Amino acid sequence: MLDRFNRNINYLRISVTDRCNLRCTYCMPGEGIKLLSHSDILTYDEITAFTRDAVAMGITKVRLTGGEPLARRGITTLVRMLAGLEGITDLSMTTNGTMLAGAAQELADAGLMRVNISLDTLDPVKYSSMTRGGNMADVLEGIRAAQRAGLRPVKINCVIKSTPDENDARMVAEFCMREGLEVRFIREMDLAGGTFSVVHGGTGGHCARCNRLRLTPDGMVRPCLFSNIAYSIRELGTREALRMALENKPEKGTTNSTNGFYNIGG
Ligand code: 5AD
Ligand code: SF4
Repeated sequence: MLDRFNRNINYLRISVTDRCNLRCTYCMPGEGIKLLSHSDILTYDEITAFTRDAVAMGITKVRLTGGEPLARRGITTLVRMLAGLEGITDLSMTTNGTMLAGAAQELADAGLMRVNISLDTLDPVKYSSMTRGGNMADVLEGIRAAQRAGLRPVKINCVIKSTPDENDARMVAEFCMREGLEVRFIREMDLAGGTFSVVHGGTGGHCARCNRLRLTPDGMVRPCLFSNIAYSIRELGTREALRMALENKPEKGTTNSTNGFYNIGG
């Protein structure tokens, strides 16, 4: 589907939960975030029905994000439901990897094609402090499990302060070279302040070529990460919300004061 600025919108990012088992310093405050109540969160049937309509309108790429998608119970069931839709050529997940070791094979069996795993440092002590308590060894096991399960390519998302030359980023890059992983460096962003940047090795951050729509856990279609524009699929219905989002996708991002990364998924 083409938007007003002739961009071919074919990529849907679905945030399935605002919950996460970690608390990365750049993503969430340590405590005191208000989480959605269960009744606000879309059911798997609602997500699947929405995605079916999105695919009918031209979406071919679907990514599950969060929060942490593996923190949502029964996520493999959703993967299987989405994999059953005709027309999706790329079905992927962005995960922190800490709970992936035990889930990679069943996700692959359910039809997940590939994963992006977040890893910002190779120093376990630093990892633990950056994530407020995460265990880096779990992530490394998750990466191996993903490779064994054939979730290819395994990409590593590495958030950097300013350049890929930073020490942590270079260590992560070397690790990826050795292990046959693709690395993508993402400059730390600030949604409310409107600082966003291109992803080294990725496709995000170029407004003129942006091909994305987003669905939040509570059923808002958002045409731009850096905008407050949102349409409720429960209020408008899936087709109308999609149509409105497409019609009102801004030419360029500005600021988003209504979301954090933990509930829109980057
Ligand atoms: N800036 C850039 N990336 C972020 N992520 C989370 N918060 C931010 C931020 N402030 C990234 C995570 C993960 C993906 C879901 O979004 O590191 O790779
Ligand atoms: Fe959780 Fe990812 Fe946010 Fe870290 S960046 S707190 S892993 S959602």
